[in-house]
Amino acid sequence: MSEVDDLKKAAGEYAVDNFIQSGMLVGLGVGSTAIHAVRRLGELVQAGELTSITAIPCGHQAEEAAQEFQIPLVEFTPTTRIDVTIDGADEVDPELNLIKGGGGALTREKIVAQSSRREIIVVDESKLSSKLGEKWFVPIEVLRFGWQTQMGYLESLGSEPVLRMAENGTPFLTDQNNYIIDANFGMIDNPIFLGEEIKRRTGIIEHGLFLHLATDLVVASSIGVRHISHED
Ligand code: 5RP
Repeated sequence: MSEVDDLKKAAGEYAVDNFIQSGMLVGLGVGSTAIHAVRRLGELVQAGELTSITAIPCGHQAEEAAQEFQIPLVEFTPTTRIDVTIDGADEVDPELNLIKGGGGALTREKIVAQSSRREIIVVDESKLSSKLGEKWFVPIEVLRFGWQTQMGYLESLGSEPVLRMAENGTPFLTDQNNYIIDANFGMIDNPIFLGEEIKRRTGIIEHGLFLHLATDLVVASSIGVRHISHED
């Protein structure tokens, strides 16, 4: 494992070890950091150290890992409140606002986050920024039908939009079979306003700006792991 993978593992495992208790309903995030939390949770469930755990996955990756570790998966009901979700992020500002969707799972991740009492974000220190947009574009999930029409709209909002491609050269498909447009807005002065503007258009399903959703941040760096609560 590379040094950065070690940090991702440390953050993911810290979140499980410190915030998950028996009996909880857990949201399982997607990505190369969150997967370490899913694996750690699975190990503790299999060892009998955590009991009566159920989970809701944010994407196929988390679902497959949960099945491998026999973590029981459940569906949402109209009254579901997830106790704790552990997920990654592409960029985190000092207010714990996020850009997510580098793995393309942003819509399900946001549904899970908004249904969670606690949304714990696990990152290595390279994800921290002074202002959203400093390090990452905004991933936007769009319906395939008419996706071309969204490009001009996103340009009119001041971005440089690019249709995300898969490694095989065809458009990247989300778990819901939609496309992702990565829109580079540069530094974002007013993410709430921008998020509302992006969502104005029919066919735009969701954007990767996660504002006021994270309750906790777990950051791993070469000097250790630290926990920051939104209340701090
Ligand atoms: C997936 C996500 C991921 O959590 C985000 O891209 C971070 O991924 P990684 O931990 O692999 O850097 O939002 O949609």
